[in-house]
Amino acid sequence: MATIIAVANQKGGVGKTTTTANLGAALALRGCNVLLVDLDPQGNLTSAFGLEKDVQQTVAESLLDRRIPLPVVEVANGAASHENARHLSVVPAAVGLASAEAQLMNKLGRELRLRDQLLNVSDTFDYIMIDTPPSLGVLTINALVAASRVIIPTEARFFSLQGLQMLEESIEEILYLNPRLEVLGILLSKMDRRLKEERQVAQYLRERWGVRVFGTEVATNSKILEAGSAGTSVFHYHGAEKAVDAYLALADEVITRA
Ligand SMILES: Nc1ncnc2c1ncn2[C@@H]1O[C@H](COP(=O)(O)OP(=O)(O)OP(=O)(O)O)[C@@H](O)[C@H]1O
Ligand SMILES: [Mg+2]
Repeated sequence: MATIIAVANQKGGVGKTTTTANLGAALALRGCNVLLVDLDPQGNLTSAFGLEKDVQQTVAESLLDRRIPLPVVEVANGAASHENARHLSVVPAAVGLASAEAQLMNKLGRELRLRDQLLNVSDTFDYIMIDTPPSLGVLTINALVAASRVIIPTEARFFSLQGLQMLEESIEEILYLNPRLEVLGILLSKMDRRLKEERQVAQYLRERWGVRVFGTEVATNSKILEAGSAGTSVFHYHGAEKAVDAYLALADEVITRA
């Protein structure tokens, strides 16, 4: 049975997709079989592995029709060329997921659809990570119902704290449908230690949330952005060694906690 981890924060641009892609690749490199599910109509996770050009089928059809199995695409440029690396696969999304979300609203058991689909594949993987859109709509709820753990990437800014509070309240609501959901960790995913505000907010978060904040921080690093735009993980991007070390350290923390 796979450990299913939702990556969520309703605030936009905090590093959800970047975390899912690079942590997923790091877990594969650590010898785990990993499936990454793109549950965002923006399809950024799909693009992060350069898969957007040849997407035939997406997660949307499998949410709308239970009989259609999830399309699982193996990623060649994940971490597979590294020694010991296991398989990294992606369930792609495209913009059609937005209209599928609207159609889901009229379907029975709309919050449970991803959970039921993942049950069919969860024996094949060690970790399944779900990238979610920047909202608390039915797609994010599907992810939080399917998962047993949630990783919350955040920027270390005062404005981010309010978002964390809202997410905490939503997670409490979700417990009604999914009582086993737990926060695996809060991740400082774009940390700039040169800025006083960021150091202060990071310190506040560690005081408020204690060990639930991952010890590993991912620093802001242009190579992370460039790798994403080039459609690959940092493990296949020249000059991204610092980012590689950070995501491997994060993967080790995740394996220990999960
Ligand atoms: N540590 C980092 N250093 C530099 N750039 C980063 C870092 N993490 C993420 N980024 C960049 O920040 C932008 C937003 O990141 P990302 O797309 O992962 O956020 P998101 O939370 O998934 O956004 P959305 O809410 O739109 O889905 C991207 O351009 C990404 O490349
Ligand atoms: Mg995203």
